[in-house]
Amino acid sequence: MDPNRDNQIIRFTTFWWGIGSFLIFALLLAVIIVVTRKPVTTLEDAAAVPRYDIKAKVDAAQATALPQAAIDAAIPAVAAKLAISKPAAVEKPDQVVPGSPTAEKLASTPPVDTSAVDVAPAVDGPINPALMEIGKVQFMVCAACHGQNGEGGPIAPPLAGSEWVVGPVSNLIRIQLRGLQGPITVKGTEYKFPVGMAPMAYQTDEQIAGVLTYVRNSFGNKAPAVKPEQVAALRSEVGKPQLTVEELTKP
Ligand code: HEC
Repeated sequence: MDPNRDNQIIRFTTFWWGIGSFLIFALLLAVIIVVTRKPVTTLEDAAAVPRYDIKAKVDAAQATALPQAAIDAAIPAVAAKLAISKPAAVEKPDQVVPGSPTAEKLASTPPVDTSAVDVAPAVDGPINPALMEIGKVQFMVCAACHGQNGEGGPIAPPLAGSEWVVGPVSNLIRIQLRGLQGPITVKGTEYKFPVGMAPMAYQTDEQIAGVLTYVRNSFGNKAPAVKPEQVAALRSEVGKPQLTVEELTKP
């Protein structure tokens, strides 16, 4: 039998020595952590501190402002409103949705009076080069179908030498604003293309006057310029169905 083991005093002091040295090491560790802890040094970290602070405040504010129960209660009402709502009819003069009530109303209006637009200018003055430049740019769209030099092709008739191009101005403006559905006879040849020509009313009065002046004075054509006011005078044509040759003035 080991006399030390049975000694009450030795057992007591050994126990407390153990606890004591454990506490000493714990204290030492705490001191090391406190002493070596780095303060916030980088700018990013410094900036993050107020960000976290703001986020916490926003989260708290949102949580009190819109409780989940309120959101849940609002959803059916909002969904029901969305289900019955529909976009308002487009009433912009240069945008009429085909098949809309506005388009149907326009289709049944009497034919437009073109006599004021078709009066020949008193003086056939020189063509404004700035208007020709505007027209040249706009003609890139037309060229896709009518060809770079207005020579026509597999999907559109020629503009070069066309009696329609140098004929009444109202025809050209109305073709551009409403599009055209063949058949149409150009230079003695009857053309009928599957899709016809789509309206291009999105261009401004000046751009339309420019492109029409350009086709009337390019590819060997020669005719007086088209004025933006002439285009403006026929804007009421926008939204009506594609034109047919019967609705044009004979060149
Ligand atoms: C998508 C192809 C296409 C584009 C783009 C196009 N057209 Fe046409 N155009 C046609 C077709 C097709 C016809 C003949 C209609 C038919 O046969 O159905 C026509 C006919 C014409 C006519 C009367 C016939 C003639 O040859 O003289 C003129 C004038 C005309 N277009 C001018 C223009 C102008 C100006 C532009 C550009 C602003 C333009 N077109 C853009 C396809 C097009």
